[in-house]
Amino acid sequence: MSTHIEAKKGEIAETVLLPGDPMRAKWIAETFLDNPRLYNDVRGMLGYTGTYNGQSVSVQGTGMGIPSALIYCHELINDYGVKQLIRVGSAGSYQKDVKLRDIVIAMAASSTSGINNSRFINADYSPTANYELFLKACLYARDHLIPIKAGNVLSTDEFYEDNFDNYKLWANFGVLCVEMEAAGLYTIAAKFNVKALAILTISDSLVTKEAISADDRETTFRKMIEIGLSCI
Ligand code: ADE
Repeated sequence: MSTHIEAKKGEIAETVLLPGDPMRAKWIAETFLDNPRLYNDVRGMLGYTGTYNGQSVSVQGTGMGIPSALIYCHELINDYGVKQLIRVGSAGSYQKDVKLRDIVIAMAASSTSGINNSRFINADYSPTANYELFLKACLYARDHLIPIKAGNVLSTDEFYEDNFDNYKLWANFGVLCVEMEAAGLYTIAAKFNVKALAILTISDSLVTKEAISADDRETTFRKMIEIGLSCI
């Protein structure tokens, strides 16, 4: 057992899918995995292990934001030997041509978070996806005719900003969308020399102010999960 995860050693697979919402972890495990077994219920942050096409895989909720996600990522890697971490989450579009339900794969993650400012003083670190996972995800999407977009995303610390028009600066520099965890995930994966990828589905748009319903999310999330599972 680690500080926030009650699994025994060996109960968590080397590849873990990471939704922010613990109830989505339950849904993913029950919908996509064979023989899913609950290994964590500490703080309601559900984690399951099962098999997908005969291969062991886990799904762990991370909560929202880099600080929460880093707790789970750190313990998964450090205490349970996890080698591949694949975030599957939602994001808000920053671009006109990034539309609701689109899937975005984060090649890199800019951030408003302070995690790397205190590490790399007076310099900027570029949290980046693992190339092997990125390639696998892109090839699976291409072969299954799933349209994707790939590029820079923003991992913000604040869902409700004082000024929502702040997004335009990031948009002008090509950032595709905003979410809250990828930059932390890519940084900790680099620190421990493991692989990470963030796959996102657009659930709302800062450009058009539209959002998709909870029901609609489920259908669009399926394709993202399929892509994530193709990487194991
Ligand atoms: N996740 C989904 N939509 C988001 C948004 N608008 N801002 C931050 N994270 C998000």
